[in-house]
Amino acid sequence: MGISIKNTGKAVPKLVVKNDDLNRFVETDNDWIVARTGITERRIATSESGLDLAVSAAKLALDGENYDDIGLVIVATVTPDKLVPSMGALVKRELGLANAVAFDISTACSGFIYGIWIAEALIKNGMVDKVNGVSTNTINKALIIGVERLSRIVDWTDRSTCILFGDGAGAALLENNPQEKGILSSFVKNYDDTTNSLTCGMEFSKTPFTDDSLDNPEKQSLSMHGSQVFKFAVNAIGEVMEKSLELAGLTADDIAYYVPHQANLRIILSAAKKFKQPIEKFQISLNETGNVSAASVPMALYDIIDTGKIKKGDKIMLMGFGGGLSAGAVIFEM
Ligand code: COA
Repeated sequence: MGISIKNTGKAVPKLVVKNDDLNRFVETDNDWIVARTGITERRIATSESGLDLAVSAAKLALDGENYDDIGLVIVATVTPDKLVPSMGALVKRELGLANAVAFDISTACSGFIYGIWIAEALIKNGMVDKVNGVSTNTINKALIIGVERLSRIVDWTDRSTCILFGDGAGAALLENNPQEKGILSSFVKNYDDTTNSLTCGMEFSKTPFTDDSLDNPEKQSLSMHGSQVFKFAVNAIGEVMEKSLELAGLTADDIAYYVPHQANLRIILSAAKKFKQPIEKFQISLNETGNVSAASVPMALYDIIDTGKIKKGDKIMLMGFGGGLSAGAVIFEM
């Protein structure tokens, strides 16, 4: 049985915010941002909801498909439009995916990798091709979406974080197809964030029953200890790359292209160096998108497929790392 990535999609908001535009809010400059991160611009949602972006990306991934064949929708996000209903439920309703089970997952920038890992397990166990518990042979596809409007949780007065993030969505359509090799390995891992290096609190209702200290204890915007997260990222990406190669019985040279999470060019360069791979094998989209958390990997996957350079049979590695702390990698054959 092969679980292939059949198609992808991507959607970005219209507004392009260049590094120099950020000078209006914080003391920074283009040269510093480019040198320390590789980012030159990002997209920020002004009129687009997360659902708009998710649905646009999903429609591209579903181009030419019978929507009734979709048995599963997983949306990875830390910035849903609302808590209830889930983004997955909203996408299912908006697209009319009658046979899909839909839900959200929250594993920050590794979200899309975790989504594939979950979908692979569910498809392999025959859980996706069912309507009301009864097996069908046609409902054999899963839609995995990463969508973020990080601009809503960024602290726009903090120059060490607000320069890094952007908004957007990416989607991938997985298909259970015995003719394809598809996913060769998937591996995820959690690491305890003992120093709270990457956090974002949220607002809760005050209740007449609880102690005040339980309410809103944390800053309700993104807070990051950059250098700690940087060190974690460099180690974690190496570990998940190594483990996914081992599980697939491959070496780094066997991988035609790498699609890493788009957080910082220096993190990607360190992975290329560690595995003695040319940087040309790594998709770099972050210069135009910044870090879009769970949407980064599927957006970058769309970008590399869009170049037309991937050939049938090429092996591709997707790598994610981020808040939680969390990390993971997936190797698949095109
Ligand atoms: N513009 C100009 N100067 C800035 C700046 C900005 N936007 N942000 C920080 N600086 C300054 C700092 O104030 C500091 O100045 P000081 O030495 O006078 O105190 C200096 O630049 C170095 O700051 P530092 O935080 O040590 O920089 P860095 O080299 O670690 O780069 C990050 C900062 C955030 C780019 C980097 O740590 C990083 O990418 N971390 C990982 C982030 C990540 O991947 N997060 C998501 C995980 S999914």
